[in-house]
Parts: sequence; structure tokens; C-alpha cells
Amino acid sequence: MIRYLGSSEGIESGELVGFFRGWPHPPSPDTHLEILKNSDHVVLAYDDDAERVVGFVNAISDGILSAYIPLLEVLPSHQGRGIGGEMVRRMLAQLDGFYIVDVTCDPELEPFYARFGLKPGFGMMRRDYERQSGAT
Ligand SMILES: CC(C)(COP(=O)(O)OP(=O)(O)OC[C@H]1O[C@@H](n2cnc3c(N)ncnc32)[C@H](O)[C@@H]1OP(=O)(O)O)[C@@H](O)C(=O)NCCC(=O)NCCS
Repeated sequence: MIRYLGSSEGIESGELVGFFRGWPHPPSPDTHLEILKNSDHVVLAYDDDAERVVGFVNAISDGILSAYIPLLEVLPSHQGRGIGGEMVRRMLAQLDGFYIVDVTCDPELEPFYARFGLKPGFGMMRRDYERQSGAT
């Protein structure tokens, strides 16, 4: 059974394996746990049978006007079952009331986010791939 959690409390790094697929320098599970703890909002999908987290989304926010969703991922073994969509729905419910809610994504994911009322827009960004595993 999949349970959705609104906090990383009680989660251990050993339950956070297999994420950041395809990243050349992925954060370790310990760093992943720190990211979740330092985020203003999180939604986790927890598989009770596998005893591990199978999906997560986080958001950082100023608490007044704006929030940004930097990361969303579902383990390949659990994709296509509605878990990503349910986590986004729950995250947007947490962010309800903010003037700005931003997410950046590849163009092919536009239809996925459009389902939740998000609209395409122009953005500017910087990525330092040497720091992908975490700031040192
Ligand atoms: C995007 C992601 C979180 C969706 O999770 P999920 O649990 O599979 O999502 P759902 O089952 O709720 O919805 C799947 C829908 O998203 C679409 N989708 C998922 N990834 C897609 C992609 N790369 N390109 C186009 N469509 C995609 C599927 O086609 C599917 O559409 P359908 O319902 O019409 O069949 C998951 O595919 C993932 O972790 N991808 C890798 C990381 C990533 O790209 N994260 C997004 C960062 S912005």
C-alpha cells in the first residue's frame, strides 16, 4: 500500500535509495534526507510493502508570496500509477494561497503539469553540475 506523508520525520536515509536517476553527481541518501528536512514543504509516497520511499516532491518558500518546486521524482518501478500526480496534487494543496508557485521542467512534461492548472512561462536558470551532489 502507498501512503502519502507530509513530512520526512521518522524517515531514514536507507529508505531513500534509487532516486536522482541519470544524474551524473547525485546527492547521497543522507544528503537527500537533509534536502527534505530543510524544505518548507514535502510530500513523500511511502510503499509499506517495500518499506521505502518511492516518490517525493519538495518546495521551498518565503512563506508569504512565493514557492518553488525544485524536485519531483517517482522510482521507475512505481511510475505510471498516479503516484506523481497525487503528490503534485497534495503539494499544490499545501501551496494553495501563494501568489507565485513555480516549477521548471522539460517541455515534454508540460501536459503533466497542465493537468494541475500550471501554465508554461519563460524562465532563466543556472546549473552548476559540479555542485549537483550538494553544496560543499
Ligand atoms: C514525472 C514523474 C514524477 C511522473 O510520476 P508518475 O508517478 O509516473 O506520474 P503519474 O502516474 O501520476 O502520471 C504519469 C503521466 O505523466 C506522463 N509523463 C511522465 N513522465 C513523462 C515524460 N518524461 N514525458 C512525457 N510525459 C511524461 C505520463 O505519460 C503519464 O501520462 P498519462 O497519465 O496520460 O499516461 C516520473 O515520471 C518521474 O519521476 N520522472 C523522472 C523525474 C522527472 O522527470 N521529474 C520531473 C521533474 S520537473
